[in-house]
Amino acid sequence: MQKVKIAVLVSGGGTNLQALIDSQNKGVIKNGEISLVISNVQNAYALTRAQNVGIKTAVVLKKQLGSQQAFEDAVINILQENQIDLIVLAGFMSILSERFTSTFSDRIINVHPSLIPSFCGKGYYGLKVHEEALKYGVKVTGATVHFVNEIPDGGKIIMQKAVAIKDGDMPEILQKRVMEQAEWKILPLSTEKICKQIIKQKCIKE
Ligand code: GAR
Repeated sequence: MQKVKIAVLVSGGGTNLQALIDSQNKGVIKNGEISLVISNVQNAYALTRAQNVGIKTAVVLKKQLGSQQAFEDAVINILQENQIDLIVLAGFMSILSERFTSTFSDRIINVHPSLIPSFCGKGYYGLKVHEEALKYGVKVTGATVHFVNEIPDGGKIIMQKAVAIKDGDMPEILQKRVMEQAEWKILPLSTEKICKQIIKQKCIKE
């Protein structure tokens, strides 16, 4: 059985990418294969993580291409050239247009570091999400994996995991706890779940 071809889109350190790579090695992800990593940031450490294990990488820079549309066209081209079936956004810090999301309808998933619908949408990314959760004073936060559509963080939820907030938490400490206890677990599990579904759909069509 042919595996689902996965592309992971990144912008930063890539700890979620690492969790995906480790899960593939452990056989947690068995119906898919990470075959490409694309970054919109030239020196993202995530690129090194991919290169260390021989995964093909590409860098696409909006500044060089001049517009969001030209940037997205370039990314779409690379994804189509590589016959990618599933796109995983793992710390990818660029909001994608409806043109992009509808090109890959139900084939893009994202990990977000809160329990959606709290602390999500435009402007809520990275550490800012945890700062806002602490400012509000919620006692439970977590992570969400969801499909990506034209509404930022608005697509159908695939998996969520709650994480406790402790007295005296700082944003960086909370971010690490949410990653360790939630993101690095539910992103690989969700990826495998969707790969399985894609294979099933392909079998029905054939
Ligand atoms: C992760 O916490 C991810 O959930 C978040 O950025 C971090 C990237 O870390 N993504 C967003 O906030 C997207 N809205 P990583 O590069 O180490 O995986």
